[in-house]
Amino acid sequence: MSPTNTSPFASQTVHVPLSERSYDISIGTGNLAEVGRWTASLRTVTHAVLISDSNVAEHYLENVNESLTAERIRVTKLVVPAGEPSKSVATSQELWEKALADRVDRKSIVVALGGGVIGDLAGFIAATMTRGLDFFQIPTTLLAQVDSSVGGKVGINLPAAKNIVGCFWQPKGVLIDTAVLETLPRREYLSGLAEVVKYGVILDPEFFEYLEANVQPILDRDSTVLQKIVARSCELKAQVVAEDERETTGLRAILNYGHTYCHALETVAGYGEYLHGEAVSVGMLCASRLGEKLGVFDPALTERQHNLLTALGLPVEVPRIDEDAILSAMQRDKKVEHGKLRFIVPHCIGKVVLTPDVPADVAMAAWTDGYAG
Ligand SMILES: NC(=O)c1ccc[n+]([C@@H]2O[C@H](COP(=O)([O-])OP(=O)(O)OC[C@H]3O[C@@H](n4cnc5c(N)ncnc54)[C@H](O)[C@@H]3O)[C@@H](O)[C@H]2O)c1
Ligand SMILES: [Zn+2]
Repeated sequence: MSPTNTSPFASQTVHVPLSERSYDISIGTGNLAEVGRWTASLRTVTHAVLISDSNVAEHYLENVNESLTAERIRVTKLVVPAGEPSKSVATSQELWEKALADRVDRKSIVVALGGGVIGDLAGFIAATMTRGLDFFQIPTTLLAQVDSSVGGKVGINLPAAKNIVGCFWQPKGVLIDTAVLETLPRREYLSGLAEVVKYGVILDPEFFEYLEANVQPILDRDSTVLQKIVARSCELKAQVVAEDERETTGLRAILNYGHTYCHALETVAGYGEYLHGEAVSVGMLCASRLGEKLGVFDPALTERQHNLLTALGLPVEVPRIDEDAILSAMQRDKKVEHGKLRFIVPHCIGKVVLTPDVPADVAMAAWTDGYAG
């Protein structure tokens, strides 16, 4: 699964091996204009439903539209308002109906152009329209490039629960142009870096060291460094997904490092207060302190993560919010089995272990130790 450079549309290719659902992630700089030729190289396409959001459309929709049209592909452009509320039943219904009105059929494809919201939503439309359409992803946020576009999870929210309606629907291909990250707001960009750091901690000490050594070029969005971190993150996630495509063996759970605390923080602080990656940053440090308290993790390694996350402009302190609410949010987390708290606990940089039966008071001590001052 090492990146190769056999594709004319990318300087690096990461293969995601999922037997008959295998596909390639093509990573380059400035390859957005190749979308038409890229799709046409993967299958015969005559009609594409191109789904994007209002922010991304402003920058990139016409470029992608022209590239598809140049291959004589008829394009139905569907733009939804930017933001999480678009991952809804109402928006889905609108998209199904507009696609139908523009003569979608079983040979049409769906192209997602946007961040994780658009990837999840457009993937869900692809999975459900006419019992399943081929799906192509062009992720445009760092989070979408390194995380949500790999793994095949698609879906929407209900008012009472996030990501509760959905399925696994693997794309036929993913095209990543790291140059589109230039227009991404700084806070969104930094938030995506938290997941990049996560891959280093859970699977790859050398990659973690690479991040430590390249903080400034990362912050500058240097194209060579960006290609490297996006490609390595995709490879690492692809490895995990390939071994546990549908989250049945437990291996995929390691991707949730820091996420039990993160989800509790997102819920209790109120959605929108923290961007996801910001809450992941705080959560990873809680999980590291938990490792210390369980006697399996060296405090110096918590310090290294703390320093790297701080250098990358991510929050590291736990906010003083309702502790009882945090605990009950963690107890409601889907990783709880039979009422016991389970955490992904680091043992060293590059190795984490799913740890069941964590006592609530120890879990909370790792939380409150993160308060400032
Ligand atoms: N399917 C999965 O495995 C998976 C994994 C992680 C997260 N997710 C989902 O991803 C979503 C979050 O994704 P996100 O963080 O990418 O948020 P997002 O899609 O809302 O994008 C963030 C913001 O950046 C804007 N934007 C996107 N690309 C841009 C660009 N290149 N230039 C300028 N602006 C740009 C968007 O319009 C939006 O305002 C959540 O709904 C989450 O549930 C899914
Ligand atoms: Zn995450």
